[in-house]
Amino acid sequence: MSIAVTGATGRFGRHAVETLLRQGVPASQIIATGRDIEKIKDLADRGISVRRADFGDTDSLTAAFDGVHKLLLVSTTTPSERIGNHRRAIDAAQAAGVSHLVYTSTLHAESARMILAEAHRETERYVRASGIPFTIMRNGWYLENYTSQLPVYLQHGGIAGAAGQGRVNAASVADYAEAAAAVLATDGHVGAVYELGGDQAFTLAELAAKVSDATGQSIVYNDLSVDAYTLMLAGVGVPEVLAQVLADSDLGLARGELLAGTDDLRRLLGRPTTTPAEAIAVALAQQTEAS
Ligand SMILES: NC(=O)c1ccc[n+]([C@@H]2O[C@H](COP(=O)([O-])OP(=O)(O)OC[C@H]3O[C@@H](n4cnc5c(N)ncnc54)[C@H](OP(=O)(O)O)[C@@H]3O)[C@@H](O)[C@H]2O)c1
Repeated sequence: MSIAVTGATGRFGRHAVETLLRQGVPASQIIATGRDIEKIKDLADRGISVRRADFGDTDSLTAAFDGVHKLLLVSTTTPSERIGNHRRAIDAAQAAGVSHLVYTSTLHAESARMILAEAHRETERYVRASGIPFTIMRNGWYLENYTSQLPVYLQHGGIAGAAGQGRVNAASVADYAEAAAAVLATDGHVGAVYELGGDQAFTLAELAAKVSDATGQSIVYNDLSVDAYTLMLAGVGVPEVLAQVLADSDLGLARGELLAGTDDLRRLLGRPTTTPAEAIAVALAQQTEAS
């Protein structure tokens, strides 16, 4: 039984591989793939098969998925390239005879109106049409989307957004990746569509209060119109298209599209999910270590 993970050079894929090892899957049964496999040389040193897979290059995908039984397809990063990338990977998985495909989607992909959901909705359709037995992991927001911005929050004494009083139940990238690894390493998940989010839902004003508590600095939430927030992001160097996507995602948050509404993540993990306070504490400790 071989299990392949794409995007192993990134956070999610790396966490998934590390979790499979911790769960006792032999290294000889794990295949870690990425574009630049120099980044994951250490995994090869630990007995994992490391293969180059570039989603823009069908031949590399075909070679990477040769002999694979279970495949974790981690969605690629550039939104405009996602559908083409994912179709090529699913075609290659089908040609390789993959018997279980696990795809990282987004919450409520069928109904969510946020721009980011479109490519996931289309990919889910393509997965179903492929006939490969599948599991869909509809991941919610990462806590790291916020904790990676802590220096900015502290510099400005505030969190900016366009999410109003909307609530999000984010969880850590490690939580989501651990759940994906559990699905790969255990039986009973074929055909399942999991809506995944953290145990604690919060508004961005509540997040600001948690950052204040953790740092002793007063941090407030500044709710902006979507246009003002887009301009603000572009003004600090975020590429225009990405600024639009991020601001649009806050509108989705306000509509409740980033609330999982299930305890799927907690159940798959068999433990509570990482809390916002824990994630903030980890990020602050990492910053202190780095400085
Ligand atoms: N739910 C959320 O809140 C949230 C937040 C952030 C990101 N995401 C998305 O979730 C997914 C995984 O997140 P992450 O944290 O692991 O992101 P990440 O650390 O940026 O890793 C992305 C991975 O995808 C790989 N990749 C991108 N384009 C590729 C291509 N054309 N061919 C092969 N590999 C490609 C990257 O390879 P290289 O190392 O070669 O670049 C990397 O391994 C990404 O789609 C990301 O955009 C979701």
